Amino acid sequence: MPSETAPQKTILRALRGENLPIPPVWMMRQAGRYLPEYRATRAQAGDFLSLCYTPDMAAEVTLQPIRRYGFDAAILFADILLLPQALGADLWFVTGEGPRLSTITTPAEMAKLKSADDVHETLAPVYETLRILRGALPNETTLIGFAGAPWTVATYMIAGRGTPDQAPAHALMNEDRATFDALIERITEGTIGYLSAQIEAGAEVVKLFDSWAGSLKGDAFNRYAVAPARQIISALKTRYPHIPIIAFPREAGQGYVGFAKATGADCVALDNSVSAEWAAEHVQCDGCVQGNLAPGHMVTGGADLVRETQRIVRAFSAGPHIFNLGHGITPDANPDNVALMIETLRTPLAD
Ligand code: CP3
Repeated sequence: MPSETAPQKTILRALRGENLPIPPVWMMRQAGRYLPEYRATRAQAGDFLSLCYTPDMAAEVTLQPIRRYGFDAAILFADILLLPQALGADLWFVTGEGPRLSTITTPAEMAKLKSADDVHETLAPVYETLRILRGALPNETTLIGFAGAPWTVATYMIAGRGTPDQAPAHALMNEDRATFDALIERITEGTIGYLSAQIEAGAEVVKLFDSWAGSLKGDAFNRYAVAPARQIISALKTRYPHIPIIAFPREAGQGYVGFAKATGADCVALDNSVSAEWAAEHVQCDGCVQGNLAPGHMVTGGADLVRETQRIVRAFSAGPHIFNLGHGITPDANPDNVALMIETLRTPLAD
């Protein structure tokens, strides 16, 4: 059961609005293919979904970057596409290409999906992973649960795969709004139940990944990025008022301005298409921000990595900040560069 813990962990302190002299740090995709120990456990599991659904192994890969680098947070090892699978979609991963799903584009396909209350049997191993992690993590490390935001999850469920411009999802939105809205609503309800169960199992913070929010413009951004996030956050805050929530409307641009206020999120995660200086002025004024080093620096390293890390720390130094990348670390990253980034962060700046 979640409990009202004293906010000693650095991530929780930042999320409650405290400006810490050294920003706490974790990385999106910190458990991933750039780490040899991840590749070894993944090979042992056989395939990616088996790794997600085998609690001992999923907990092991979650812990690997904590052991290696001492990150301030561990993020549950799972995937945003497990919820569609729990709702009844077929899901598989094609090596070197990415996810594939059976598609939902008609009222008949929509009618075959399970109800939002029926997802927990499939997702039970994920909750078990969280319980293992709560017992295994160092006291100072915060455990983050997550889900995809409804729009991003819908883009995969409609197209059956990742699409560069999310055209199939935009087409359904325009051609059959009722089916599109029903799908968004089902994912929204499922996400509320899924994140509630993650919190019950030990997640101390939850994050909503809206990776494709950037392709929603104008009214569509309000309707399908802001409104579902607000609905999910308000339901979670009613049940678990002390659990902080991070929202990541990736590539929202101007949409970042006021996003925390409009949705009730405690923290907004920033991609690297916006500058830290701009975000400090227009986004951090409303509370904690997370981000936003370009993931490419984890491949190239060197003086540029050090300089950019210091620039971001300086830009956000007047308010609460959690250091992170602007998107996930890539498989070609050099693990030594992650160590250099952390060492840079934890060395106080000269002025
Ligand atoms: O951040 C973490 O370390 C936690 C685990 C996590 C994964 N996926 C593991 C994963 C999280 C939080 C996600 C979120 C996720 N999954 C998102 C939102 C964030 C983002 O990256 O924009 C999305 C869009 C997905 C869907 C997804 N999963 C895709 C498109 C792919 C294939 C692309 C790729 O990198 O291979 C995945 C697979 C995936 N999810 C991997 C990992 C570590 C790679 C699988 C492997 O080991 O082969």
